[in-house]
Parts: sequence; structure tokens; C-alpha cells
Amino acid sequence: MTFPVIGVIGGGQLARMMAGPAVELGLELRVLAEGPDVSAVAAVAHAEVGDYRDLDAVRAFAAGVDVLTFDHEHVPGELLAELALDGVAIHPSPPALRHAQDKLVMRRAVEELGLPNPAWRAVRTATDIEAFADATGWPVVLKTPRGGYDGKGVLVLRDAAGLAAAEPWLTGGELLVEQFVPFSRELSVLVARRPSGDAVTWPVVESIQVDSVCDEVLAPAPHLPDDVADAVTSAALRLAERLGVTGVMAVELFETPGVGAGYLINELAMRPHNSGHWTMDGAATGQFEQHLRAVLDLPLGATHAVAQHAVMKNVLGGANTDIYGAYPTALSSGPSAKVHFYGKDVRPGRKIGHVNALAAPGEPLAAVRERASRVAAILRDGTDLPSSDKD
Ligand SMILES: Nc1ncnc2c1ncn2[C@@H]1O[C@H](COP(=O)(O)OP(=O)(O)O)[C@@H](O)[C@H]1O
Ligand SMILES: [Mg+2]
Repeated sequence: MTFPVIGVIGGGQLARMMAGPAVELGLELRVLAEGPDVSAVAAVAHAEVGDYRDLDAVRAFAAGVDVLTFDHEHVPGELLAELALDGVAIHPSPPALRHAQDKLVMRRAVEELGLPNPAWRAVRTATDIEAFADATGWPVVLKTPRGGYDGKGVLVLRDAAGLAAAEPWLTGGELLVEQFVPFSRELSVLVARRPSGDAVTWPVVESIQVDSVCDEVLAPAPHLPDDVADAVTSAALRLAERLGVTGVMAVELFETPGVGAGYLINELAMRPHNSGHWTMDGAATGQFEQHLRAVLDLPLGATHAVAQHAVMKNVLGGANTDIYGAYPTALSSGPSAKVHFYGKDVRPGRKIGHVNALAAPGEPLAAVRERASRVAAILRDGTDLPSSDKD
């Protein structure tokens, strides 16, 4: 019996959530983990601890796998290029992955494809930023091209006086500056593409950020005009094809009703993504299973929603450290709420799990949101809302 071995670099929750579908499909999943206690280690039969920036460590890990993929985008491109020369099958490929690793590379590619970017410029100095803002108007958004996540590496500058806050960032390297987009909401579309070319998308979702961290996802995005949904879906497919993406990619977008194409591209993530966690329970094929299929060049699964509304609510670390102690109350809160916990220590603001809730036939979106939020709050706080607030 020969089943392939998939190696994942990084042992966070994304690697962990690949483990369930890997078991279902009889695949062996191995993880190169940052430490012995990270999220995915307890979920896979084979985990080894190693530094993803160390070529020898990654090379030794890659020697035992058929396909290499990622939990995060921080593996240096030069290291991956070496592995590719060794003949390691890497999905997404290093040249594709660059577009998720470097926001300047991404902006240039989006521009070359003629897809809608916000106004942007590569800058190095306060003078450069001011010249850009003089042309587009304040506020502007300054971003480190590489290594940012959850809003780390994003700085909103309200006016020229606010430039002082950018001082520590101005170390001579290239930065990205963008117009501040007055979007009506943030959207995301998930695409999966296999090396032989087939690609599929899931319904476009609304993602709600709090303090630049994803808080809630509504699937599908409520009242999204069909033409916008079609446009962002075909943009995602075009990006996946033209960049040669393999595996799952999330395209984060700003909706801008009545302006330009009605949307602008924010950024790309080439791996399963927080805005796709709803698919684990809310779509015919979840993003983690699909990622495994795609990197193995297997036929992709159907992506339609299985309920009229699905809501994903993140659980961030809060007052409660006894997560399991909150399970009886949380799980009794609604039959179609699904709790996903990542096995991480509770620290304030840290993503430790999420809740998916699906609409019963005819159930309005507001009720599903309320249910997902209530379960997430019980896990976070360890207490339930007063019963009078429940209905
Ligand atoms: N040009 C912009 N205009 C307005 N808001 C922005 C802009 N760029 C980013 N943001 C806000 O900051 C959040 C994080 O920015 P993003 O580039 O997606 O960085 P990260 O890599 O941290 O996800 C976005 O989800 C959005 O809410
Ligand atoms: Mg983002």
C-alpha cells in the first residue's frame, strides 16, 4: 500500500487542521514544528522540531516527504529555491509563494494583470510617503512588505504630523504605502488549484476584522451583488492561474460600492486561511481537505455551501483558561454550533479556536451570528450570558 507523505512546514493551527482530513484520506501528514508544544504536534503521528530558516533542517525534513507545503509564509524564498533544485515537490511553488510573502511583489503582479489595486507606491523615506499622500490624500497606510500578519506590519498615518510614528519603520528598506481605502466591508474569496490546472472557488465571504484581527466571517457575504461576486471570483481564478498557485489561496478584498470595479484587492495568502474556516462545516469540501487534494494533484472536491448561512466566529484568548470546563455550556448552546480548538495555551488576544454555526432551514443570518458569538464568548469568558439575553 503506498500512500503519499505530505510534509507541512510550521506547526500552527493550520497544519493541525489538515490532520483530520489527512486521516480520513489515509494520508500521512508530517510537521516541521517550531517547538515541541505547538498546535499541530499533538495531532500528527510524526512531528519534528526544527527551524524553518535552517536549510539543513528543512532539507532533512523534506527528504522524508513526497510533497512539501506550508502552515505559514515565512520560509525564506532562497531556502525554498535550494530545495526546488534538490527536486523537492513544493506547493505552492517558491515563485508563486513570493506573491504572498512580499506585498510589493503582489502589488506589481496585480497591476500587471490589470486587476484593481488601491493606489500604492514603494517608498523608503518620509519625503516619499508625503509625496504619495500629497497625490492621493491622507490618510495613508504604511506596510512592511514581508513578515506581517494580523495587522502587525500595518500602520495607518492620519496626516503629515502622524509621520513621526513611522520613524522606526524608516530604516532604508523598501516599504509599501497605500491609499487608505474607505471600504464598505472586507471580502475574501478562496480558490484551490491543482498543479495540472483545475481550480475551484468557494462562495465569496464577508470577513470582519477587529483591531486588524479576523473576528467573524459570514458565508456567503450577505447581499453581495452578483456582478461583484462574479468579478472577484474570476479575479481569484485569474490570479491563481497566472501566478501558478497550487494548493489553497485566499484573496482578501475591500468592497467599494459604486467606485471602480466595486472592489480592490488587499492581499494574498497561499495556504488555508482564517476566512475559510467556515468551509470545515459549511461547505461540501473544507479548505484543509482541499489543500491536501490540491498539493497532491488529486481531483478537487465540490465547494458549494451546505447551509444557507454559515458563520465563523474566532475565539481569542480571554479570562477563561479552562476551555474544556466551558464545553458543557458551550456545546449545549446550539446543535449546529461546531467548536474547533487548537490545543494552544490561552493568552490574551491569541487565536485559540473558532466556532462554526450553520443556519437551520429558514433561520435568519442574525440568529446564526448570535449563536456563534454566544458559544465563542462562553469559551472565552467561561460564563454564559444571562438567560434573558439568549433569545
Ligand atoms: N489600504 C488600506 N486601507 C484601509 N484599510 C486597510 C488597508 N490595508 C489594510 N487595511 C486594514 O488592515 C488590515 C490588515 O492589513 P493587511 O494588509 O491585510 O495585513 P495582514 O498581513 O496583517 O493581514 C486589513 O484587513 C484592513 O482591515
Ligand atoms: Mg490581511
